[in-house]
Amino acid sequence: MARRTIIAGNWKMYKTHEEAVSTTLALIDGKGGMKGREMAIFVPAVFAREVASMSKGKGLDVGMQNMYNQKEGAFTGENSPVMVKDAGCRYILIGHSERRHVFGEKDEIINAKVRAAYEFGLEPMLCIGELLEEYEAGKSKEVCRNQLIADLRGITVDQMKVMTIAYEPVWAIGTGKVATPEIAQNIHAYCREVLTELYGKETGEIIPLLYGGSVKPDNAAGLLSQTDIDGLLVGGASLKADSFIAIANA
Ligand code: PGA
Repeated sequence: MARRTIIAGNWKMYKTHEEAVSTTLALIDGKGGMKGREMAIFVPAVFAREVASMSKGKGLDVGMQNMYNQKEGAFTGENSPVMVKDAGCRYILIGHSERRHVFGEKDEIINAKVRAAYEFGLEPMLCIGELLEEYEAGKSKEVCRNQLIADLRGITVDQMKVMTIAYEPVWAIGTGKVATPEIAQNIHAYCREVLTELYGKETGEIIPLLYGGSVKPDNAAGLLSQTDIDGLLVGGASLKADSFIAIANA
């Protein structure tokens, strides 16, 4: 089975309602050829229902950037997996570095969210990646390995068939310092080894591994040319439709 290629955008906490609608329209209009790649956007919760309904059947998948791990309850300010699904989302982003490092999410809660995604029919995109000091200490592989093991605890081979993983070195996110294609490929190949160890060769081979961190139209092609880089997770450069489309076509 061939591995899918996914170009995903993460809008983070940007855009007014009007901007969300106009960017979505521009993406639907301008997607073009995309070389058989899939396109997805992770939008703020308040825009999810409308963006998902605009994108339905248009080759643009939608997800939210975070959720809680419970079906419902007294959890003020949170969104449940049922709500994400009901809004029309296919995906849920889990464990983004800003969730881990700004909001203090630990592997235990990230694992609970991954389980909840499956329980309520969402496809998780799990983000992993090391901090600058861990990178400088030569611990990138160790950190990714530990995160994969902890965050995927209890997830079955069957469930892994709809898993996507994004490697995002924290030192490259929003900093303009992109990992070179060689650095990224090296970690991706290692992550695939870990996934193969955990889930077997067949599953390890088909899980799409996306790279994220300062992806721009001019560095996207180099990253995508690597054997184990199956897509990109794009923050800043996904906010404008033309730059995101340029990345998707790179
Ligand atoms: P960036 O963000 O492309 O702005 O570095 C990537 C991300 O946080 O997913």
